[in-house]
Amino acid sequence: MDFEELVYKRRTIRRYKEKEVPIEILKKLVDYGRVAPAGANIQAVEYVIIKNEQTRKSLFPLVRWAGGLPKNMRTPEEGRRPMAYIIVLVNLEIKKGADHDIGAAVENILLGAANEGLGACWMGAIDRKKIRKLLEIPKKYKIEHVISIGYPDETSQIESFDGTFKYWKDDAGNMHVPKRSLEDIILRIDD
Ligand SMILES: Cc1cc2nc3c(=O)[nH]c(=O)nc-3n(C[C@H](O)[C@H](O)[C@H](O)COP(=O)(O)O)c2cc1C
Repeated sequence: MDFEELVYKRRTIRRYKEKEVPIEILKKLVDYGRVAPAGANIQAVEYVIIKNEQTRKSLFPLVRWAGGLPKNMRTPEEGRRPMAYIIVLVNLEIKKGADHDIGAAVENILLGAANEGLGACWMGAIDRKKIRKLLEIPKKYKIEHVISIGYPDETSQIESFDGTFKYWKDDAGNMHVPKRSLEDIILRIDD
C-alpha cells in the first residue's frame, strides 16, 4: 500500500478473524514505534507484546470497546476478539510527560498494522490497575494505552461530518466514522 492509500484507509477495527498474528510482525510494529519522533529525542516509550491465548483471555475484560455505540454493539463477540495486543508504557525513570511521544509512536504502529493487512484499535478506556497486576508491570512504568490487533473481520469507512462526531454501525455491521472536512479544519492559509 502506498502512503496515501494507507493514511486514508487506516480505520479503527474492533472485530478480528481467528487467525494468528506472527510474532515477527508484532515486533516489527513495535519497531515502527521505536523510530517515531520523541521530544528532545528522549525515548521513554516501552512496550509489552501479548500473543499468548491465556493472557489475551485475561486481558480482554480489562479494555472497553466503542463507547460511542449502543451497548449491545460495543464488545467483540467470542471468535472475533483480538489475536494480539501491544501495551504502551512510559518508563518514568527516563521521562515523565511523554504524551506527544506516545501519540507519534502509536500512530506509526497503527499505520504499520494497516500496511500488514491488520486491523487495530488504540484503547485508552482500560483498567490500568488490573492490567498492571495481570502483566506484573513494575511501578516505574506508567501504563498508557493498549493497542488491540488482529486480521480485520469488519469494515469501517470515513463519512463526511454532519454536525456530530459520533460514529455508527449500519445493519450489515459496517462502521462509519465522520471526519471534518479539510476546509473546516484549516483556520487560515497564508499563501
Ligand atoms: C487516545 C485514544 C483513545 C481511544 N480509546 C479507545 C477505547 O478505549 N476503546 C475503543 O473502542 N476505541 C478507542 N479509540 C478509538 C477511537 O474511537 C477511534 O480512533 C475514533 O472513533 C476514530 O475512528 P478511526 O480511528 O477509524 O478514525 C481511541 C482512540 C484514541 C486516539
